[in-house]
Amino acid sequence: MHPVGATDSPGLLSRYVQRNKSFHVFMLYWPANESKARMEIRMETNLMDQTQPEDKAAAMEAIRREIEQLTESPLYEYRVANGYQPVIGAGSLDADVVFIGEAPGKQEALTGQPFVGASGRILDELLASIGLSREEVYITNVVKDRPPNNRDPRPAEIALYSPFLVRQLAIIQPRIIAPLGRFAMDFTLNLFHLPQAGGKISQLHGQPIPARTSYGEIKIVPLYHPAVALYQRTKLQTLQDDFRRLIEEQGV
Ligand code: URA
Repeated sequence: MHPVGATDSPGLLSRYVQRNKSFHVFMLYWPANESKARMEIRMETNLMDQTQPEDKAAAMEAIRREIEQLTESPLYEYRVANGYQPVIGAGSLDADVVFIGEAPGKQEALTGQPFVGASGRILDELLASIGLSREEVYITNVVKDRPPNNRDPRPAEIALYSPFLVRQLAIIQPRIIAPLGRFAMDFTLNLFHLPQAGGKISQLHGQPIPARTSYGEIKIVPLYHPAVALYQRTKLQTLQDDFRRLIEEQGV
């Protein structure tokens, strides 16, 4: 393990810090084996110091334009070479619940829409099971461009894209944030400096975790990534149970 800023991508990180002066993301370590090791990201900022813009649609549109032109992203060339689009997010800007995935897959990158492939069908089923439609919630990802061959997002990519996610959360001000899968869960728990950060999703899934924001207390409800139900059918029942807990939390 070694500090990212020192050795791996100093150029990328310094450009990132210049672009996002109000966000300070510290990569504590860059795991030797990224796909297996847990990554830890500490953010100096959180939703405590973000204000909601008056024109939410304009603020979200500004985010879209910035991401479309994010030429310093290590995923930008791959996007252009494959005719992919960035996936900003979809749904209601007044949503009570925001679902956060990891990164777009191929179908998502081809359409510019989150969760439209196989795991999206599971997500739709789960939303329907608690009487919610996509239009009533907001669905997005930590990383907005598709990593090659669906590899795990790299820490520098998460550092580059995550301030956009924080801005999206500040626009929507959800009462519940539901990270889907380990990556999004780690990111969200670190964002709020919660003691559960670094915990196992097998222990934390479906448990509402209180978090403080500038607009009051919200709940973080970590969920398994819907893709797990594709290869482990028993997880579908777990996801259904957890989605029911989530809807119960809407009364926070
Ligand atoms: N998996 C994700 O994490 N996000 C998507 O948008 C699609 C699949």
